[in-house]
Amino acid sequence: MGQLLPLVDPAMAALGLGSANAKTYKLEKPQYDTKFTDLVIGATGPKAHPRLAQIMPSLLRHLHNFAREVNITVSEWTMAVDFINECGKMSDEQRNETQLLCDILGLESLVDEITANQLATSTTETPSAILGPFYRHDAPLLPNGSSIVTLSPSLPWYEQAIADSAYLTGQVLSSSGGGKPIPLRNAIVDVWHSAPNGLYEQQDTTQPEMNLRGRFVTDANGRYSLYCLRPTAYPIPDDGPAGKLLSLLDRHPWRPGHIHFIVSALGHRSLTTQIFDSRDEYIKQDSVFAVKEELIVDFKPRQGDPQAKWELEYDFVLGLMADQGEEEKDEAAVL
Ligand SMILES: [Fe+2]
Repeated sequence: MGQLLPLVDPAMAALGLGSANAKTYKLEKPQYDTKFTDLVIGATGPKAHPRLAQIMPSLLRHLHNFAREVNITVSEWTMAVDFINECGKMSDEQRNETQLLCDILGLESLVDEITANQLATSTTETPSAILGPFYRHDAPLLPNGSSIVTLSPSLPWYEQAIADSAYLTGQVLSSSGGGKPIPLRNAIVDVWHSAPNGLYEQQDTTQPEMNLRGRFVTDANGRYSLYCLRPTAYPIPDDGPAGKLLSLLDRHPWRPGHIHFIVSALGHRSLTTQIFDSRDEYIKQDSVFAVKEELIVDFKPRQGDPQAKWELEYDFVLGLMADQGEEEKDEAAVL
């Protein structure tokens, strides 16, 4: 006889995603039909989508082995189905709960890294990081040296913004296929971050449209420069199924303070990334696992500038576009 364990944890019941009737299960090693998984894989027909025909055998083997390995019961499977359904019901134009679920499981960061590794043409390229849900197209095109911060003394985070005011500059460089990086003129640095209250402007009625967002074009030396704020930690939305799962896993929802970028230049792959402030208490505990060592930055005190208390120099190295058809091929793989 195997050890008997309770099936329904009280915290699981708190999920509200389904009910379980069985009281216990066994950790015995049962015998299963060894041909069952092959039978399911073999059901795929000769006209199947090529990419699916390639990847589904592996997915099915992992999925079936997982279920057998941890003795998934019908009640647990039903709860999981309800959980996924709840994620879908909560998703709309403003919120993507299923993507959030992938984020807290580390899947989006992993897929981002896999994609970047496949496309990389040199080891000098700046690492990518996930886009996140708060990007907006068509941020204001601003001259170098201008600010993306609109401040009013009436804002509750006014004093914090003054204390965190920062000057950010650097170069956009070409990896030039592994040689010495060379400056890229007319590259676009698209930047955005949250306010000291942890909210992006579209989440916050107290901020003006497009606050803390801007696009900057590099000069002849590949340089960009702007005023922004040192970033503030914020929690991911945790009032849905993903948040309940975090709670069941005894995890917090916080992301370390970060600044988002999309950096693009002719003939190069666009870089979507984030930089992370080393002072942040969550720097080693990002709830979506996006932090990479090369993306952690140290802001330095800035002297003699009434507009900024801090400064940071950060360069972005872009990889060459190896194959113009890469992104089209990616899209073609989607059903
Ligand atoms: Fe963010």
